[in-house]
Amino acid sequence: MYHPQDFFFHKAKKEGYLARSVYKLMEMDQKFKLIQNGSQVIDLGCAPGSWLKYLSEKVGHKGHVLAVDKTEILIEEKNVFFLQSDILESNLTEISETIKKIGWQEKFDGVFSDLAPNTSGVKDVDSARSYELCSQAWKWTKFFLKPRGIFLMKIFEGSDSEKLFSEIKKQFYISRKFRPKATRPQSREVYHIFLEYKPH
Ligand SMILES: C[S@@+](CC[C@H](N)C(=O)[O-])C[C@H]1O[C@@H](n2cnc3c(N)ncnc32)[C@H](O)[C@@H]1O
Repeated sequence: MYHPQDFFFHKAKKEGYLARSVYKLMEMDQKFKLIQNGSQVIDLGCAPGSWLKYLSEKVGHKGHVLAVDKTEILIEEKNVFFLQSDILESNLTEISETIKKIGWQEKFDGVFSDLAPNTSGVKDVDSARSYELCSQAWKWTKFFLKPRGIFLMKIFEGSDSEKLFSEIKKQFYISRKFRPKATRPQSREVYHIFLEYKPH
């Protein structure tokens, strides 16, 4: 029997993307106009690299992508700098120094987090791990995002999520919750998109 999710798997294969999850980002970008030519953005949890390929193409040769994952990946794109790091342990001041050394701007136009824990199948455990990753992605965002910038994050929602969303929401003019078409029906993941950062 044909499964609608196979469509995205085969499409990714045909179009040269390493994961079907790229179609989630594409749909959100088409809807919310998230990525501009010449922008400098962060891709948190970038492996195996399908969002990264899309981000690199969209920001173009004048833009930059800082790609971060605890798993090493091979990078060919000239506008990408890959940092192998566990984001729960990374030192943001040191990373900022590295950014300056390679001659990039200190602040970023967008932070995209597709971070996901290894799932255990136990709902509360997975959502607690996802919450921890999102809290850390929010720390990165507060450190690196430019005023008016955007923050997008994936979360497996749980009992603590609302508290985090309401904290983040206060620092953006616009916030939206979105479940892309390429999301597997059984998945509890959802994306939160925050636009127009207003740091205080
Ligand atoms: C769903 S995958 C990302 C897929 C990616 N957006 C793509 O399109 O190819 C989630 C990623 O989060 C990474 N990750 C999970 N916990 C992490 C951590 N503590 N530090 C860095 N990366 C982490 C995993 O290694 C994994 O590569």
